[in-house]
This record gives sequence, C-alpha cells and structure tokens, in this order.
Amino acid sequence: MTEPTSGVSFSVPYEIAVVRPLRQTTIQEREEALKAAYYNTELVPQEMIYVDLKTDSGVSSFSTTQLTKLIGAGALESGMEMAPEGSKAFVSLSENFQTIFGFPYVVPVAQGRAAERIWLKMHVKEGSVVPGNMLFPSTRFHIESNGGKVVDVIGEDAHHLSSEQLFKGNLDISKLEAILKEQREKVACVYVELCVNSCGGHPVSLENLKAVKAIANAHKVPVFLDACRILENSYLIKQRESGYQNHSIQQIVYETCACADGLTMSALKDLLVPAGGFIAMRDEGSYQKAGVQNFLGGSQPPSAIMEMMSTALLEGFLNDSYVRSRVEQINYLWRRLKDGVPLVAPSGGHGVFINVKSFLPHVPAENFPGEALAAFIYHISGIRVTKGPPLAASQTARGVEFLRLAVPARRYLQGHMDDVAEAIQYAYSRRNEIKGLKKLDKPGRSRFEPSLFTVL
Ligand code: F0G
Repeated sequence: MTEPTSGVSFSVPYEIAVVRPLRQTTIQEREEALKAAYYNTELVPQEMIYVDLKTDSGVSSFSTTQLTKLIGAGALESGMEMAPEGSKAFVSLSENFQTIFGFPYVVPVAQGRAAERIWLKMHVKEGSVVPGNMLFPSTRFHIESNGGKVVDVIGEDAHHLSSEQLFKGNLDISKLEAILKEQREKVACVYVELCVNSCGGHPVSLENLKAVKAIANAHKVPVFLDACRILENSYLIKQRESGYQNHSIQQIVYETCACADGLTMSALKDLLVPAGGFIAMRDEGSYQKAGVQNFLGGSQPPSAIMEMMSTALLEGFLNDSYVRSRVEQINYLWRRLKDGVPLVAPSGGHGVFINVKSFLPHVPAENFPGEALAAFIYHISGIRVTKGPPLAASQTARGVEFLRLAVPARRYLQGHMDDVAEAIQYAYSRRNEIKGLKKLDKPGRSRFEPSLFTVL
C-alpha cells in the first residue's frame, strides 16, 4: 500500500499517558531561588523549574511498554554477572542490538562513561594519540587518564558558528591523514562523535565517515564511534545528505555502524532510559575482555534497564516516526528563534545553541555572560538553561561560549517550546540590562563543584 499524500500526517507518534504537574512559580519565588542557588541555574531545585533544558540525557519520558518492563517479572530476573548469556534480558537485548547495529558483540553497561572507561583503557596507553571531532569531555577524560592525547581534527566549518554548512561534525580528512602519516605508531584509534555536542549538535555525513574509515583502514587503525545520538545523526543524514532520502533510519544506522570497528554509547539519550549504555565490537577477544572489566568494575546494568533498552530499540529504531518528531521539535524551536537571536546554525539534532558572545557583546568573559544570561532567563520565566558540559578545547581556545537548550525527548509539547522561544526573545530585547556576575571563591570548595556567583 502506498502512503497517502494528503490528510493527517501523524506528526506526533505518541500520546500522553502519565503527567507530572508543574508548579507555577512567581517572580519573587524565582528571585529567592536564584539567590539561594548563588545565581547558578544548575543549583536551582527541580521543583522550582518550569521547562528544564539542562540536558537531554536520562530525562526523556518512558513509553508504556518501557514502564511495564521496569516493573514486570523480567525486571526481577537475575542480571548478567559472569555469565551474561544466562540472562534472558541480556540475550534479547543483544539480539535486538546486533540486528539493528550490525555488530556481532555487545556489552551492555551502566552508563556511557562506563563504556568509555572500559573501552579506552583497552585501547589507549601512555603516549597514544587519538584524532577526533571535538570529543565529549568524558571521552577526552578517559583518553587522557590513560596517558593519551586527543588531537582535534574536526573540519573548519565547525568554527563558523552562523554559517549554514550542513555537516559541521565532519572530520577534516587531510588533517586526519597528516596525523596518520606522521604519527602512525602512536595513533591508537580514530574516535568519531555523532551529532557533535561541542559544536552545536551537528551531524557527521556518511560520505565523511566512509572517507575516515578508508584512510584509517589504509593505516590499519580502528575507527570507534561515540554513538549516543546516532538516531539524530541518522535523521539529519536522511534530511541533508544526497542519496539518503529514500533510506529508512534503520538502514542509515546500520550503514553508519558499518564504517566502524567498535562503538561506545550512552543509552540515556536515544534509548530513552535513565541509565544504561553499550560497548560494541567485532572481535570476540575484545568482547570477553570488556565483559570481564564490566563485571569486575561493577558497571553491569540491572535486568530492568536492559529490558527498557530493548524496548526502546524496537520502538525508536525500526521506524522513522519517533526520531522525526524529536528532531523536528528542535528544528521548530530553532526556527522560532533564528530571526533575531544569535544561534549556532543550522538547526542541530538534540538542542538549540545560543552564541553567548553575540547575545551579550557588552559582558566580558570574566563576568560570566553565559551564566548571567541563564540566570536572567530563569528569573523571567522559570525556564532552566545552562552552558551544558564543557566544550572542546578547540572551542574554548577561540573564546566560544554557548548556552545549550537541550530538549529532552518526548517530554515537552509545542506550548512549552513556544514559551521558551518567547522567554529567550524577551531576554534578547532586554539584553542591555544583563550586567554579568562575579564568582565567589569559597575556601575549601573544589574546582569540580558548581561555581557560586553574586550579581555585579
Ligand atoms: N558522549 C556524549 C556525546 C554525551 O553527550 C554524553 C553525556 C556521554 C558521552 C556520556 O554518557 O552520561 O551516559 O555517561 N551527555 C550528557 C549531556 C551528560 O548532558 O550531554 P553518560
């Protein structure tokens, strides 16, 4: 049967089954909450937030089937332990994962960073070099903590914040080739993040991935993916890369994975779960090693999480409707803001990124313009935005600062997005009133703790 060309378009592939009421705070209450949080929106308590755009990780809504799996009989069965093949949840998760991703071996883990900890310890050693595309801070941390060095080989387009290039996540093939030629014996692997967070959630094209794989193959270096936003990346390929318009998301996911020798993945994004992740690989030896490290390191996920991940694979990866509505919601917010507010262009996969320097050119970096803007937005609207995880060094070296409006999947309605757009536009119209913040240095506070501020 052919698809109807007119009529209802099924733009939202789910309905609301459970709701969480939101408190309607007053501006005075928010002022007090901000003061108590030392003007750091990260520290404002959840119950004082209207729309929370702090992260899209681990905060999406469950489907009814996921909820059933969480409390069903399978959730109570024993977990993986030393013999994962004896766990029902592991076996069905592996089968679904293998079919969709095409990797013969998979190790389910508790979180993305647990996957990176295990996988990078196996591949990186003192003096190793890892070329990558503005890798996520946890990936960088695990490369560096094993004595390796990250070399950023993202293409120049990633640094042109307002240009409309469609694949700003792409690696610069000539830079990659130069490193492989000059330092071949040091290069442990090439790491490719999909839908790159640090440059605005921009995708990597399949053409680029295939070129990366060909060069890496020629030098016998493995290619690994950080695949936690592979769905969004695949959707943007379908939309933007010529030749893929008639491919299904499932085909693009499979083809993407075919360009890699392994992957690490947080499941908190595309698998709509509060915990979980994967390491996938093509050789049995690595599978056995990673499995043992997962067991010994205490990072195996419980059965309930494996069942929920399995469900998400079947519900989100086998048809295009979930990811279409997810990315189109972000595109809607981006379009509502783009004429006027300085945004990173074009629209990305998991959030809208505000270019703070252009929004508040009068606030110098030492007065924390990003945090000051986030505090202002919270004050007027109850909406929480933050700078998100630390940007890649190649961004911070250029003085780039973003506010990330990370949109949790399946959680907010168009009305929420309209309120967010209005709040940001209102903040932009009053931007001259935003003066910046001063950091409070409290003795004994570690540099890893969230910063505390006072108004200037
Ligand atoms: N890779 C990317 C691209 C991520 O965005 C994250 C987490 C991780 C790896 C680590 O995964 O949290 O499961 O250990 N991103 C969250 C965020 C924290 O807000 O973007 P994890």
